[in-house]
Amino acid sequence: MCGIVAYIGPQDAVPILAEGLQRLEYRGYDSAGLAVVGRGGELKVRKAKGRVHECVDALPARFKGSPGIGHTRWATHGEPTDANAHPHVSGTVAVVHNGIIENAEELRAKLTADGVEFSSETDSEVLAHLIARSGAAELEEAVRQALTAIVGTYGIAVVDSARPDRVVVARNGSPVVLGIGDKEMYAASDVAALVGHTRQVVHLDDGELAVVHAGGFRTFTLDARATAKQPADIEIDAASYDHTGHEHFMAKEIHEQPEAVERALRGRLDPRFHTAHLGGLNLEPREARAIRRVKIIGCGSAYYSGQIGAQLIEELARIPADAEPASEFRYRNPVVEPDTLYVAVSQSGETYDTLAAVQELRRKGGRVLGLVNVVGSAIARECDGGIYLHAGPEISVASTKTFTSTCVAFALLALHLGRIRDLSPSDGRRIAAGLRALPGQIREILAREEHIASLAQELSRSPGAFFIGRVRGYPVAREGAQKLKEIAYLHAEAYPASELKHGPLALVGPDLPTVAVLPDDDLAGKNLATLGEIRARRGPVVAVAHTAPDPKITENVVLVPKNEPELDPILLGVPLQLLAYHAAIALGHDIDKPRNLAKSVTVE
Ligand code: F6R
Repeated sequence: MCGIVAYIGPQDAVPILAEGLQRLEYRGYDSAGLAVVGRGGELKVRKAKGRVHECVDALPARFKGSPGIGHTRWATHGEPTDANAHPHVSGTVAVVHNGIIENAEELRAKLTADGVEFSSETDSEVLAHLIARSGAAELEEAVRQALTAIVGTYGIAVVDSARPDRVVVARNGSPVVLGIGDKEMYAASDVAALVGHTRQVVHLDDGELAVVHAGGFRTFTLDARATAKQPADIEIDAASYDHTGHEHFMAKEIHEQPEAVERALRGRLDPRFHTAHLGGLNLEPREARAIRRVKIIGCGSAYYSGQIGAQLIEELARIPADAEPASEFRYRNPVVEPDTLYVAVSQSGETYDTLAAVQELRRKGGRVLGLVNVVGSAIARECDGGIYLHAGPEISVASTKTFTSTCVAFALLALHLGRIRDLSPSDGRRIAAGLRALPGQIREILAREEHIASLAQELSRSPGAFFIGRVRGYPVAREGAQKLKEIAYLHAEAYPASELKHGPLALVGPDLPTVAVLPDDDLAGKNLATLGEIRARRGPVVAVAHTAPDPKITENVVLVPKNEPELDPILLGVPLQLLAYHAAIALGHDIDKPRNLAKSVTVE
């Protein structure tokens, strides 16, 4: 949420910042801005409401310089306007900020009483004034002092045209990563902005600052103690950040799922003992046997994947398991039990609510595993162990491949726990074979895209839709409804199929379609009975099923290959992604950057 980028070195910072901001735009896209120190030592600032390219395209040719900082915004305090766009300036100092300053009002009142004039409604502007008004000789000390006065979260980058040999960055709750170049340095909210420039990065920790010169950097804590950092290599190439061959990142990411699943499985299935090898769990078999409960936390689609994960763990490992939104969990003072295994799910590894829940759990002695995509992210580092998804960068705001990969990772975890407890070798073999079959079966579903697109066209003309499923199908329905809301902006509600007649059936009629998730399991007959009730009220039905239902119920069917019953939800989710994608295309929406949303929700 919000992206920051910084450069210092011999090149003109502007094209580097512009490219970085475009790569970070999925983090927020309602306004953008840059500040650079020109050759004559002057601070040049341009910022505007709108997309990054609008801001960059409007830059005059003479807008050049180094060092420089840039920002792409998702508004929290203050509407998206030119004035509220970052950088915020005070004298010779310019600041870009990602996060929320909780005591901004109090600080603003004090600064105003001291005669400071504010030019925006943002919380971030207080930082610029605090830094500019510090009497400290060094910029890094001025930033450090300012940060000790604020309460809240931040990832910041600061330049000062009076001290143009450095950029100062700091992190608390919002990520900052340094990129090491040859006599030049970079910093950004995530590595997306750095690939193509450097392969060596350093992740800052919460409460850490860095003073960055063209020739290197020095890190220290808020109480001015030096810290030592080890650079890490990034293995992502620049091609991951364009969608050549596909109209949108979402389409690319949907079509990458077979390979993403192969990567999630690679080297993790043990053909001898029919179990899963998960080296990163840091969980001894003795400890795994002592687990009495599994509690999964995550937000949005990560939470829905957690519901699928909970079912897999209950079914395969016979451990009571459930999932809860991380945001609810952290606010309700949960009882943290020593024999409960907590699992945090996050694509970005940055979602603030999930991170805060993990921190609360760790504080109370809970053992937390992370199912995370972004290597080295805050949640990954905060957990006791976990499983990396290896899905590759996900740029589209609507998650697709990482949802599927998370479900696969849960299946591996369930298999691993099951085989340590009471899952039989033959069931282990059956699940492992099912997992191996998934990539090919996902390819079969993707080959049905044209048919799904035609159903989506029709769906896009409705005012909304119900999504229903039973037990294994219900979280799949929830995720399907989430996708349709997010990118097609159609009202969609998911219900357990059995709940329909307890109220929502009142809404069913010719104008409200129902998308039904129909696994071929022992509940198939009950699902068909529910569809009969919908048809009796002339409600249109789209079925996502292994076997076509009676044509009297519906002829609008997407057939999905059959896997093992426990793994079927993973496949049933894929057509729903395509359904939402094509409904949104039919409605002419911005697929990868849906309104009001941003990837990585790093604020509460
Ligand atoms: C929906 C979506 C969001 C995220 C949620 C958690 O398509 O992408 O609901 O799943 O914001 O994000 P992560 O997984 O990064 O913690």
